[in-house]
Amino acid sequence: MTRVPQITTDVDSAATLLKNGAIVAIPTETVYGLAALVHQEAAVMRIYSVKGRPTHHPLIVHVAKDFDLDKWGVFSSTARLLASEFWPGPLTLLVKRTAHVPDWVTGGRVTVALRVPQHPMCQELLGLIPDALVAPSANRFGRVSPTTAQHVLSDLGSDVDLILDGGPCDIGVESTIVDCTKDSLQILRPGAISAMDIFTLTGRTLSDGIGESRAPGMMLSHYSPTAIVELYESQDEALLRASQLSEMGTTYQHLYFENVNEYALRLYDELRMADIKGVKIVLAVLPEPTGIGIALRDRLKKASHRQS
Ligand code: TXA
Ligand code: MG
Repeated sequence: MTRVPQITTDVDSAATLLKNGAIVAIPTETVYGLAALVHQEAAVMRIYSVKGRPTHHPLIVHVAKDFDLDKWGVFSSTARLLASEFWPGPLTLLVKRTAHVPDWVTGGRVTVALRVPQHPMCQELLGLIPDALVAPSANRFGRVSPTTAQHVLSDLGSDVDLILDGGPCDIGVESTIVDCTKDSLQILRPGAISAMDIFTLTGRTLSDGIGESRAPGMMLSHYSPTAIVELYESQDEALLRASQLSEMGTTYQHLYFENVNEYALRLYDELRMADIKGVKIVLAVLPEPTGIGIALRDRLKKASHRQS
């Protein structure tokens, strides 16, 4: 019989398991992560194998809010400014790593991606362990990220040791990744914190990373449901296509929320629902390209890209 992992709200038992080398799904404000202690090599390698992720795709290191920046990375003054303004929060900073960061986390790179998550349960957990946590999104490689404990269970099942249930994620799309290792800042993955937010704080312009594929593991096709995702710039175009599909007897799901924050919250659940219902086509209306809308457009474009 397959063992079903326990879903719990008991942070202490999650901390104990992690310290003993287990892999535990954890809530963050963006999406659920699949966590292990950074310095537990075997547990980190198990994460790669459960996800089906190539080992040269580096992992984000999640740290407690009172962590010692200098122990983990080399922070420029701009990186420090971003950290002090946006941490804890949905921002990942790419900086040069220190010798404290092991190779198995960075795929041998000289950089490390660091993030201080805001979710209170996640911070409580980080406060109980003597290390930081690697936590890629808790989904199989290339598939839709989980935003509830139930999503993790249906995706990874008995391959994880425990699922810590912190309720539905507040944001719904992964953190913004900013490369702070060069003279100019660059967004490697758009998220809730936008290029405009960063410009307002630092006075520095940066590219929003749209349509590009810079972070290792960020491929053209990602966040993909089995259903075909078609993209539309307006509701009218999507509705026209919907009536054509109805006439042809093709099953579809219409995806659009006027409120862009609600769109982010619901996006991955809707893509999962399309597969559960077995619809052939998702008709997704793209939100305006501002704020978190930029991140949504990025994820929808990747979800729509078919691997040949
Ligand atoms: O919101 C998030 O960031 C979530 C939650 C769980 O914290 N985590 C997440 O992790 O999205 P993951 O592994 O699904 O995506 C991390 C991305 C990958 O594309 C990876 O290549 C990039 O970050 N990354 C990590 N370390 C890097 C490094 N040293 N250099 C370049 N890219 C890096
Ligand atoms: Mg991911």
